[in-house]
Amino acid sequence: MAQTIAVLDFGSQLTQVIARRIRESQIYSKIYHFATPAAKLREDGVIGIILSGGPQSVYAKGAPHPDAEIFKLGVPVLGICYGVQLMGHFLGGTVANSKAREYGHGHLTIKKPGKLFAGLPKKLRIWNSHGDKLTKLPPGFVATAVSENSPFSGIADPKRGFYGIQFHPEVFHTERGVDIIRNFLVGICGAQQDWTTKDFIAHAVADIREKVGKSRVLLGLSGGVDSSVAAALLHKAIGKQLTCVFVDNGLLRKGEREYVEALYARNFKIDLRVVDASKLFVKRLKGVVEPETKRKIIGRTFVEVFEKSLKSIGGAEFLGQGTLYPDVIESVSIQGNPASLIKTHHNVGGLPERMKLKLIEPLRELFKDEVRQVGAALGLPKEVVWRQPFPGPGLGVRVMGDITADKLEILRNADAVLQDEMMTSGWYWKVWQSFAVFLPVKTVGVFGDERTYDYVIALRIVESTDAMTADWAKLPYDVLQKISSRITNEVRGVSRVVLDISSKPPATIEWE
Ligand code: XMP
Repeated sequence: MAQTIAVLDFGSQLTQVIARRIRESQIYSKIYHFATPAAKLREDGVIGIILSGGPQSVYAKGAPHPDAEIFKLGVPVLGICYGVQLMGHFLGGTVANSKAREYGHGHLTIKKPGKLFAGLPKKLRIWNSHGDKLTKLPPGFVATAVSENSPFSGIADPKRGFYGIQFHPEVFHTERGVDIIRNFLVGICGAQQDWTTKDFIAHAVADIREKVGKSRVLLGLSGGVDSSVAAALLHKAIGKQLTCVFVDNGLLRKGEREYVEALYARNFKIDLRVVDASKLFVKRLKGVVEPETKRKIIGRTFVEVFEKSLKSIGGAEFLGQGTLYPDVIESVSIQGNPASLIKTHHNVGGLPERMKLKLIEPLRELFKDEVRQVGAALGLPKEVVWRQPFPGPGLGVRVMGDITADKLEILRNADAVLQDEMMTSGWYWKVWQSFAVFLPVKTVGVFGDERTYDYVIALRIVESTDAMTADWAKLPYDVLQKISSRITNEVRGVSRVVLDISSKPPATIEWE
């Protein structure tokens, strides 16, 4: 395959961010295990190599080292942070343990712009994170930029196409970092900027086919963005070898099950098995009030139901998952680096180990917004691709106190009115999340001429960019008024609607 930029992964948490920056420049890159043989890179048509950062010292026992032959391939190499140390170590320079670990903001002064810093201002704010540093340049290299702490913040051997930078160009805090990366890719490696989401899909499809062969893949479809895009992508790759299981846990929003069935089974023609386990979940949750206990029961029951469905479809070799890059903590890994540490998705924690299935995670290298682009390109509707997040335990964490079928029904109906008005007013797309919460408090009301004594529904409508912090959304009064009057008029069992005006923190987004 032509035109690949290889990113050798030495364990930095930022390796994926480098890959993302490359994709943003519409260039194809692939993350490789740090020790990938040079011959393999040549075979893959690699036109440039980036050595990622990494937490180790080049001298540490067991520190990841590349195949020394990569420096003889005749393709340009850019070392970032630990990557610079490696260049020093392998090409005849000296690397020393620096007393002060340099971490955070710094200032770069460019002395010799050359091709890497072409078109950039002389001074840039940069972001550093390293312990060791280069103390003597390898033969053939010159210093191209300095920082407060290093006379070798930028180094180059333009003849051989070797460049090194001690700081991290891939992070947002480094000014013009994207331009530095693009200069390397386009100006130095001669890469063409024609890589698109369609190309990503074509590659992913080929990868999935190669990995899966004739085996069967089982995927738990929740209807959320990640599992939906994973299902659409897997289905494009392997068609009928994919079986999706959708568990109706009785804690779903109104119409959710029907929507999922219509879209995936009828429209996409995916082999979808809907398992109705709603009675089992509600039975097990009976009388349970404590939120963590609810979550545990829901999680455990889900695994049980899911396992049973595997048996009923006659087994599978792979478990598909819509894991995204932000779900993968502690970096490394995608090409099998042993240092990997995975945060198991809270909804399906422990499933693959228990079920002895191999994992297939086709979205693992992507960020959320990229997953949405892929979903749209695969023909998923806007309602799915831009859907608000929904917790795995569903309405189970939105009914306060003990859960009953009646309370769930009230909440479902109130929530449906809210979503309907959010859609009609267009506010659904402007906020992070909007949902109703059932409060087990009865208050007096009047309906017609009658006195009522019914429950309270709280509206939680928040703005956020990453769910880490959130603030209540300032919806126009007329929209709120319409939501409130429709809920009290149309949903039996509710006499009062209140608006949650708490931020996160100190509150959380979900009530529980
Ligand atoms: P909190 O309530 O912690 O929620 O402010 C932050 C975000 O996470 C979502 N959430 C979940 N998502 N499974 C999920 O897939 C879960 O168990 C879960 N619990 C909370 C919540 O909706 C919000 O977007």
